[in-house]
Amino acid sequence: MIYMDYNATTPVHPEVLEAFLPFYREGFGNPSSIHWAGRRVKGVVEDARAKVAELVNCDPSEVVFTSCGTEADNMAIKGVASALRAKGNHIITTRVEHPAVINSCLYLEQAGYDVTRLDVDRAGMPDLDALEGAVTSRTILISAMYANNETGVIFPVKEIGDIAARHRVYFHCDAVQAAGRIPVDCRELNIHLLALSGHKLYAPKGIGALIVRKGVKLHPLIHGGSQERNRRAGTENVAGIVALGKACELAKATSASESGRLERLRDRLERCILEKIPTARINGHPAKRLPNTANISFPDTEADSLLVSLDLEGVAVSSGAACSSGALKTSHVLAAMGVDPLVAKGSVRFSLGRESTEADVDYVLEVLPGIVERLRKNSEK
Ligand SMILES: Cc1ncc(COP(=O)(O)O)c(C=O)c1O
Repeated sequence: MIYMDYNATTPVHPEVLEAFLPFYREGFGNPSSIHWAGRRVKGVVEDARAKVAELVNCDPSEVVFTSCGTEADNMAIKGVASALRAKGNHIITTRVEHPAVINSCLYLEQAGYDVTRLDVDRAGMPDLDALEGAVTSRTILISAMYANNETGVIFPVKEIGDIAARHRVYFHCDAVQAAGRIPVDCRELNIHLLALSGHKLYAPKGIGALIVRKGVKLHPLIHGGSQERNRRAGTENVAGIVALGKACELAKATSASESGRLERLRDRLERCILEKIPTARINGHPAKRLPNTANISFPDTEADSLLVSLDLEGVAVSSGAACSSGALKTSHVLAAMGVDPLVAKGSVRFSLGRESTEADVDYVLEVLPGIVERLRKNSEK
């Protein structure tokens, strides 16, 4: 079985599993309790907070644990919108964000906020002049992702942060696909709010974090107790928090060497696919992409047939296209990049990770050309 869908989720790292399992056993206490059982876990939550902060270069007090990346994105966007309502009602985002951002903005738009959605070019990059030109005196937030989940395209985050700083507008960055894979530095990049997710970096599902830089005005999404310095109520997911801390520590130690290894594997995969299937096209910026991600279109095929055929060979990949009521809807990311809908519908995302090997790439290169050929012949009939 070959897993090439690490952008969808990652397996839990064995060291992460070992770190968090005790907190489902003897470390069961509630960190708010003042007795021994509570005290036993209080320190571990703070240790984990420090490790998350270290990965993305912020102060530990700026880390707010959430249940996932989606919650972190919602909290950032709706929280700022609510806190700054008196100052303005304008939000700038892009057309290629994850649904967690797209639908939070849509929700606010329906509630009376103005949303500007920036176009991207053929390589998946936003136009920075258009961004600067879109800022008005009513703008309260720029929400732009770090790296795209479908194509791996890395946005010019430093430049976006500079524009936000120049105009004194908050910058929310969805770094769910970037954190743990490439260096992410909140201080250097002028990021006010940064979302990350445990299950994309070898921690389990059910844990994420929002970095809220000091001084940022944000209303909570979830009301209740005073956990997370009143920013996110609810008894802490101690085991998940420990896992996220450990995963961040491991990512900090290994991501530089791992990203080089994955980039070499990914580049060989792409190069050989283009050699064997000359009609294939790679989507996204040639250089500014996550090292592990390849989004490739195979004209005259359909992604769902490609996915099923690869799955029958034991290969797990995904497509950006969502199947709704039986009809394949083209990926909004590829559509925004101007990829012909007929080409976009045959696009597949290969995303590599910790357990990916040369042999995995060899196997895909062995089975894929035959599958594409068969599907193309079928489409001619
Ligand atoms: C860019 C991006 N943002 C947000 C999310 C949502 O994260 P979660 O699955 O933790 O809710 C994802 C998940 O695929 C993502 O890729």
